[in-house]
Amino acid sequence: MTEKDFIPEEGLKYPSSGKVAWKAPSNIALVKYWGKHPDQIPANPSISFTLDASATTTSVAFEKLDQPAERFSFEFLFEGKPKEDFIPKIEVFFERIVCYLPFLKQFHFIIDSANSFPHSSGIASSASGMAALSLCLLEIEKRANPATKEAYFQQKASFLARLGSGSACRSISGNLIQWGKTPSIAQSSDLYGILYPFEVHQTFKNYQDTILLVHKGKKAVSSTVGHGLMKGHPFAAPRFQQAHENLERLQSIFTSGDLEAFITIVESEALTLHAMMMTSQPYFILMAANTLEIIQRIWQFRKSSNTPICFTLDAGANVHVLYPESEKERCIQFIQDELVAYCENGHYICDRNGIGAQPIVAT
Ligand code: PMV
Repeated sequence: MTEKDFIPEEGLKYPSSGKVAWKAPSNIALVKYWGKHPDQIPANPSISFTLDASATTTSVAFEKLDQPAERFSFEFLFEGKPKEDFIPKIEVFFERIVCYLPFLKQFHFIIDSANSFPHSSGIASSASGMAALSLCLLEIEKRANPATKEAYFQQKASFLARLGSGSACRSISGNLIQWGKTPSIAQSSDLYGILYPFEVHQTFKNYQDTILLVHKGKKAVSSTVGHGLMKGHPFAAPRFQQAHENLERLQSIFTSGDLEAFITIVESEALTLHAMMMTSQPYFILMAANTLEIIQRIWQFRKSSNTPICFTLDAGANVHVLYPESEKERCIQFIQDELVAYCENGHYICDRNGIGAQPIVAT
């Protein structure tokens, strides 16, 4: 597939008004995407678990304009209330996708979005938010073209979501999603995420992710700035190469269920992401003191109890604690006994691997 394949045929007949709604989950990367080229092309491949509980629900009401808009005509509501700060981001997104959804200038839209996780929990909502919005907009195209095949719909939704926020392309379908061209996966693409095409051991099904909210404020470095730091970074080339290698190494690990090897790659990826930020110009430390306390305690518990529990991080201080479903009881007990004390106001979110975005009956 190339970009051109996502331009719809001309002459589609759109309904004059209607409402669509989708719920899309967040995702947590195991091999991290960090660094990009223009048009949201990743500098390295990545792979993520699709999450379940952390999600955005978005509805889009649409009504045909008498005259096509010069720019775009829309309102944005967050949890039912107008939210001006999101408007420029959505305008940039619409600008990027209008050639793939040409109807965007012909309608007025009312976009209403809500997150399942608390506002400013330090959890990025851009992946789930952009995925949910992309699915709603594509659903409108589908109403004009009901013969759209499911596989194409999923691929184009991921393609559009990528243009909103790179990692959002991994929030459309479920379980394990890979994004970014890499030699060990023939079907891989820089343009959209794909379902991981190889065998995955039972132990990785329904994997648990307890998200420890160490710092609930806004992130110190936005991901746009963060990706930019990889330009001219002295370690960029070996880092990008390492991501390809880690993906290739994960192939036999996913098949065999080798949790020790899995943990080594996942934790190394998290620390490498942070190492890149510590060694860029300007440099940043995005972990907090409590992030390190949590990591140390996870390591101690893993060693003393022989439990396959590990951590990963995104570009902030919060910690994602990962473990197989079979270890749930033991791990939750450990988290409550030893880790919750390091969370802001004791807050954490129990999440798990999920099945991907779902349509909602719009009311
Ligand atoms: O999608 P963005 O531009 O917000 O970048 C996300 C980057 C990380 O979350 C740090 C890693 C990843 O692969 O999700």
